[in-house]
Amino acid sequence: MSEDDSLLVDGIHSRPDLSYGEYLKLDAILSAQDPLSSEHDELLFIVIHQASELWMRLSLHELRAAREHIRRDDLGPAFKMIARVSRIQAQLIQSWDVLATMTPSEYSAIRPSLGQSSGFQSYQYRMLEFLLGAKDAGMLRVHEGLAVHPQMVEELNTPSLYDESLRLLARRGFAIPADRLDRDWSQPYESTPAVEAAWLEVYQAPEAHWDLYELAEKLVDLEFRFQQWRFAHMKTVERIIGFKRGTGGSSGVAYLGRALGGSFFPELFSLRTSL
Ligand code: HEM
Repeated sequence: MSEDDSLLVDGIHSRPDLSYGEYLKLDAILSAQDPLSSEHDELLFIVIHQASELWMRLSLHELRAAREHIRRDDLGPAFKMIARVSRIQAQLIQSWDVLATMTPSEYSAIRPSLGQSSGFQSYQYRMLEFLLGAKDAGMLRVHEGLAVHPQMVEELNTPSLYDESLRLLARRGFAIPADRLDRDWSQPYESTPAVEAAWLEVYQAPEAHWDLYELAEKLVDLEFRFQQWRFAHMKTVERIIGFKRGTGGSSGVAYLGRALGGSFFPELFSLRTSL
C-alpha cells in the first residue's frame, strides 16, 4: 500500500461521520433478500428482480427529468439522460442471461414460494410504460389501495415523453394536429399521418433539424431496447416455464408476446417505410 493509500485507511480522507455502508444504506439493502424456501436458486430470483427494480428507479428518475428538459426546450441535458437510460436498458437485457442459468426444475422448486406475486404488479415498470406513452388506465386496478396508486394516476395523466416531443415539434413550426397537443393524456396515443409527415420532414433534412433528428433517434433507441427486454423476458419465460400460466394468472408467454406488437412512438417507426 502506498503512503497515499494508507491515509485512506487512517480515515484522513473520509468523513468520520459517514461510512460507505451508511451512505449506501447497505444494511437495509443487503438484508432485503428473504428467500421463503431453502432452495439454493431463490436468492438469484430475488436479486435479479431487486436489481431490475433499482435500474427502473433510476430510469424513471432520468426519463422524468429528460421529459422536463424537452418541455423547456433544453435538449442537451435530455439527450444525455436518455442516452444513460439506453445503457441501463443494456444492463437489464443482459440480466436475462444470468436468470437463464436457472433451469425449469430449479424454478419449479421455488415456484410454490412465489404465490400469486408477479412482475405484472411492478408499479415502476407500469409507470415507465406510462411515461413512454403506453397509457392503459386498466393497468392501475391491480395497484388500487396501495400507497403508490396516486403517483401512478398522476403519471397516467401527465403528457408522455412522446407527447412532449410532439409539442416541441409544434413549437418549432411543424404542423402537429391540435388534438395531439392538448388532449386527455390518460388515453393511449394514436398514430396520425400529420405527425408522420412532420417526422419525415426531419429525417429528410437532418442537417436542418439536427437536434430533433437526434431526439427522434434517441427515442427509437429507447423503444428498440425496451422491446428487446420484453422479447428476452418472453423467451426466458418460455425457456423456464414453457406455456404454463403465469403466477399473476395471465396466459404467460402469449400475454407477454402481445406487448411486442405495440409502439410508444409509432410514427418514428412508420416513417421509415416512407423515407
Ligand atoms: C423465472 C423468471 C420469470 C418468469 C417465469 C416470469 C414470468 C412472467 C409472466 C408469466 C408474466 C405475465 C404475468 C403473469 O401471469 O404473471 C410476467 C410479467 C412480468 N414480469 Fe416476469 N417472469 C420472470 C422474471 C422476471 C424478472 C427478472 C423481471 C424483472 C423485473 C420480470 C418483470 C416482469 C414484468 C414487469 C411483468 C409485467 C409485464 C407486462 O404486464 O407487460 N419478470 N412475468
